[in-house]
Amino acid sequence: MPKQTVRDIDVAGRKVFVRVDFNVPQTASGEVADDRRIRSALPTLKHILERGGALVLASHLGRPTGDPAADAPFRMDRPAERLAQLLGCPVQKVSDTVGPEAQAACQALKPGGVVMLENVRFNKGEKKGDPAFARAMAGLVDCYVNDAFGTCHRDEASMVALPEQFSADRRAIGFLVEKELDILATLLGDPRRPYIAVMGGAKVSDKIGVIENLIKKVDRLLIGGAMTYTFLKAQGHEIGKSKVEADKLDLARGLLESAGAKIVLPSDHLVASAPEAGAATRVVKGGDLPADWFGMDIGPETAAHYGQIIHTAGVVVWNGPMGKFETEDFAAGTKAVAHALAKSPAITAVGGGESAEAIEKFGLADQVSHVSTGGGAFLESLEGKKFNSLAVIPDKA
Ligand code: 3PG
Repeated sequence: MPKQTVRDIDVAGRKVFVRVDFNVPQTASGEVADDRRIRSALPTLKHILERGGALVLASHLGRPTGDPAADAPFRMDRPAERLAQLLGCPVQKVSDTVGPEAQAACQALKPGGVVMLENVRFNKGEKKGDPAFARAMAGLVDCYVNDAFGTCHRDEASMVALPEQFSADRRAIGFLVEKELDILATLLGDPRRPYIAVMGGAKVSDKIGVIENLIKKVDRLLIGGAMTYTFLKAQGHEIGKSKVEADKLDLARGLLESAGAKIVLPSDHLVASAPEAGAATRVVKGGDLPADWFGMDIGPETAAHYGQIIHTAGVVVWNGPMGKFETEDFAAGTKAVAHALAKSPAITAVGGGESAEAIEKFGLADQVSHVSTGGGAFLESLEGKKFNSLAVIPDKA
């Protein structure tokens, strides 16, 4: 059932608390390294401002420890500066979350104004889901919007206890969350076929929940990344010095047995003499890798085969790189899959951390149907988990 959105609630003349996820990557000097999460929240923020509302924004950034010196890089100043540039209007950054400065700024806030609160996780009540902290936040505003998809799997105060403080006509999701839920409804429903999942990354164990849930729905599950070698070893192949999860071989074997021909493993591999840039490399065909060599990427034959499958798909979901793509020598497989998604007429969704990073890096993010702003939240959604942060938002009337 679709959720009530910011379109459905009255924001005119009201102060609207928008829980955003501005937990953005930062450079060593603290600059915003990737502003995708900030840009993705703009439609909701502009919608509220254009309708005569005022914004009180809150996010977490990083995982603060409680030590003010160590936590200084996690202050919200830089994301607030970036937001002001993108919105083209002043953003008043305050140095507390519910303290006197925040209260004064929110009290003085006029329609069209924007206040950015300090990192919600600087308050111990946030992680604990503390209702007293939630009540203090609620006291600053008139209504609540959740536009923090990346944080929806967390039961933190600003995600669950805070919306509970408002009547049903004053809580909603924003457009970023709406878009994420729409694509997830496609991926978890019975979409246009063939429905293809492409899964990579280092560990089978990180993806087991997703694989178990998606295997029931997809026509093919294309495997890449280091998890390949756990599957190959489970089949009895020689994998050289490649990464393997020795304690997950039974699990991998079980998945291969239950999924039948749905799971597709690479037919060739790029192997290297060492897992680092500049090492000697070669392509090997078949399931067995030479002793002393490291499997680092899918090979060109696999990349072409996966590309063909992606091209004729109805829907494709991609999570996890095909190789160690951060190193140019091992990036070809991930690049090929990214280009295949970009060219495919299918509905194409990318999410869950590194594959979103990869498609951005290759400049193809605007050529796929959807790049999720969620890491853990996207993966847990694909596992079929339900989130309290969304249960608390009323369904559309
Ligand atoms: C993320 O980056 O996945 C979200 O912002 C959640 O952050 P967390 O894992 O620190 O809760």
